Amino acid sequence: NGNYTVTLIEGDGIGPEISQSVKDIFKAAQAPIEWEPVDVTPQLKDGKTVIPDEAIESVKRNLIALKGPLATPIGKGHVSLNLTLRRTFNLFANVRPCKSIQGYKTPYDNVDTVLIRENTEGEYSGIEHVVVPGVVQSIKLITRRASERVLRYAFQYAEQVGKQKVRVVHKATIMKMSDGLFLGTARKVAQEFPGIEFDAELLDNACLKITTDPAPYADKVLVMPNLYGDILSDMCAGLIGGLGLTPSANIGEEVAIMEAVHGSAPDIAGKGLANPTALLLSSIMMLRYMGLGSHASKIEKAIFDTLAEGKTITRDLGGKASTSEYADAIITRL
Ligand code: IPM
Ligand code: MN
Repeated sequence: NGNYTVTLIEGDGIGPEISQSVKDIFKAAQAPIEWEPVDVTPQLKDGKTVIPDEAIESVKRNLIALKGPLATPIGKGHVSLNLTLRRTFNLFANVRPCKSIQGYKTPYDNVDTVLIRENTEGEYSGIEHVVVPGVVQSIKLITRRASERVLRYAFQYAEQVGKQKVRVVHKATIMKMSDGLFLGTARKVAQEFPGIEFDAELLDNACLKITTDPAPYADKVLVMPNLYGDILSDMCAGLIGGLGLTPSANIGEEVAIMEAVHGSAPDIAGKGLANPTALLLSSIMMLRYMGLGSHASKIEKAIFDTLAEGKTITRDLGGKASTSEYADAIITRL
């Protein structure tokens, strides 16, 4: 029927409500997307918890998925489903654009940067052990291969979206070997892209500078090891109004999974209070990735116009609208 099938992982907590907004808005915009909902509730298989095969098969078949928030279990013996998905499909780059929303006032009105986070290793490798009781080691794994892959992607992304500069964010002054390898690899990859300016900045300094004045970051793509990207992306989200407004895309060689960065917000789940903007903007990234740019721009404009008008916005943004009232306001503009 000429439609693209996309695996939909609605997620926990507010996941189903915000997914519904995406579905309703896509339908109204006549986006050529057929959703294939899957359940990723972990199952016990040979004593191990695994993602159901049907979910894995669906993503493998469609090569593209949209994902709502999944609760992260805390404690030993539990693996984060979010991380499992990133690992299963080798989603090596996590792209997190962070742009001020016109009409939504924060102390910063000129944020427009893109963070690209290495997504498979670093402190997220999950290699930890007790040396002797009271002493643990946690391995930060950095490989040239994974570094090169995400760095090259960052330069390609910069070219694609018209950013002039790529900046690697690091702490190679202290982590001389691990961050040193990442930085050294960046310098090498940079030579493949003479049209893009390249430089480097220490992580702590980047935090100081971007919270003092984000304007100089507007022409840049920031690329960094996994944990730095996790932290810095939340910090940048704070500059524009929080995680309810920031999308992300997990990019692999073949598969891509777009997801909201925020959690499942169990405290407000099922009450129609959730803000679906982050998942919506993630679905816009998805459409662009799929080459459906005109649908993406049309929906994006309706979202931004609704936010800018500020009449029908959700409570987290200071409005009174429910999740579906906000979605309906976007639909009306379509
Ligand atoms: C994120 C989240 C995840 C992470 C959690 C949920 C495992 O915070 O996507 O930034 O730490 O990467
Ligand atoms: Mn995070």
